[in-house]
Amino acid sequence: MSSNEFRNALGSFTTGVCLITVDDAQSGALALTANSFSSLSLEPPLVLWNIQNDSDCFREYTECAHFGISILCADQQALSSAYARKDNHDIAQDDFIIDKYGAPLLKRAVARFSCKTFQLVAAGDHHIVIGEVMAFDAHDESPLLFSRGSYDQLAPRSD
Ligand SMILES: Cc1cc2nc3c(=O)[nH]c(=O)nc-3n(C[C@H](O)[C@H](O)[C@H](O)COP(=O)(O)O)c2cc1C
Repeated sequence: MSSNEFRNALGSFTTGVCLITVDDAQSGALALTANSFSSLSLEPPLVLWNIQNDSDCFREYTECAHFGISILCADQQALSSAYARKDNHDIAQDDFIIDKYGAPLLKRAVARFSCKTFQLVAAGDHHIVIGEVMAFDAHDESPLLFSRGSYDQLAPRSD
């Protein structure tokens, strides 16, 4: 199987983009761009995302008790690009608040989830991080999209 063809086929599944955030005792407050977010369960309320095993932030995201998920708005592509850069995960404090569990969340986002780490599952070259949602909010904002390796946004509704 060609890995490029596999990657391209996977990239045809259009997703939103989010920042996964954590406040680590040693490394401080971090954000990492991810599009592997998915809903998982309503009862209990669970969501998931996947982290690469070779991420420089692997320890911080797999040992944390709590983490945040902020779904990016269509005009927040610069934040997505910034926190997708290697060695650039320290958060710009001005853009974030700290939730009551100690995890950073973007001040402005389509939706925000405060999560307690529920389960970690090793799977191939990634780990699945499952979070129990302790609190969330959602706003009437248009989401940033990621499709076939590029950013995009929803076309205006015709109705
Ligand atoms: C749109 C987009 C989605 C991404 N999704 C994920 C993801 O779900 N999981 C992940 O581990 N990295 C993801 N990445 C890569 C990380 O954001 C980041 O580039 C990578 O972690 C950098 O390496 P480091 O973790 O060693 O600093 C994504 C990058 C982009 C641009």
